[in-house]
Amino acid sequence: MSFTILGTGSALPAHTVSNEELSNFLDTSDEWIYSRTGIHTRHVMTTESILQLSVQAAQKALEMAHTSPQELDCIICATAAGDWISPSTGCMIQKELQASCPAFDINAACSGFLYAMDVADGLFVRKRAIRVLLVAVEGLSRLLNWKDRSTCVLFGDGAGAAVLGEGDALKYIHLTAEGSLAINVPCSAGTSPYDAFTYQPQGLCMNGKEVYKFAVRSICHGLQKASETTGIPLEKVDHFLLHQANQRILNSAAKKLGLPKEKIPTTIADTANTSASSIPILLDAEVRAGHLHRNDLLMLCAFGSGLTSGTAVLRW
Ligand code: ACO
Repeated sequence: MSFTILGTGSALPAHTVSNEELSNFLDTSDEWIYSRTGIHTRHVMTTESILQLSVQAAQKALEMAHTSPQELDCIICATAAGDWISPSTGCMIQKELQASCPAFDINAACSGFLYAMDVADGLFVRKRAIRVLLVAVEGLSRLLNWKDRSTCVLFGDGAGAAVLGEGDALKYIHLTAEGSLAINVPCSAGTSPYDAFTYQPQGLCMNGKEVYKFAVRSICHGLQKASETTGIPLEKVDHFLLHQANQRILNSAAKKLGLPKEKIPTTIADTANTSASSIPILLDAEVRAGHLHRNDLLMLCAFGSGLTSGTAVLRW
């Protein structure tokens, strides 16, 4: 017995920043950004905290799942950087919700929601949980170098959440990590003596071309391996919920795999890349728009800093 998703939620900061606004202080343009990424605008935290976004998303997911915080057996928060190094964002979400279960954070960058799902799966299999809250939240706008036009235009902030309950919806999950490729997306905490990332001046940096290739490879390998392992042909999948990093990455993978674009929903034009929270934000948008029907077959795939990736197959 593993899990079924009982409810989803998401929260985005109120303030949006368009490509045109970025071109007021960066040597860039809407045409350059949109044609290479599919991004028009992004939500950026101004007054909100990571914790506030997390709690908003969690409350919506709990409401949809008809679950009270006191029923939760664990809270797992996927984030690259919360409001604090310690306590964990998971513990602060527990406090705000007035839950009483164990809570902790996972950092797998953009693949964090898939990593959190796999950890949660273990709790259900070991019968340690009946209800688990997953929250994925990122405020990368605080970590970006806003003078680095090649990276800062790609990201936005947000939170997504899911309440999991006992069930058999999860059919497959597989994670990868290639630490040897870590240099392609580093972000220093500013205190480490570890000098592997010598080219990094400040903030989140990215070797865009290498990450692009890794991303397309991760989606293609991830979905093909999932299909082979489960015996489910890709044509039988109803929705492909893929990490929202770049529309060109999604288009390229879709072309290589022969996937119809209407099965690959996106939020990227309005949210940009919200890292770990991108898949649960997309999932929540699709659920609330009525695009997902109970028993629909979903394939999820994420990739990101680490470099990490994760793929899951589940029924909605
Ligand atoms: N505006 C205008 N020009 C820019 C900008 C900008 N915002 N950023 C870079 N440029 C310039 C560069 O300086 C370079 O100029 P040069 O040739 O004179 O040196 C030129 O544009 C590079 O252009 P392209 O080769 O066309 O760029 P490319 O096609 O590689 O696109 C991009 C860049 C969009 C970053 C692409 O590599 C990409 O999408 N990579 C994947 C990034 C990603 O999605 N990461 C997310 C996963 S990891 C994570 O989520 C943490």
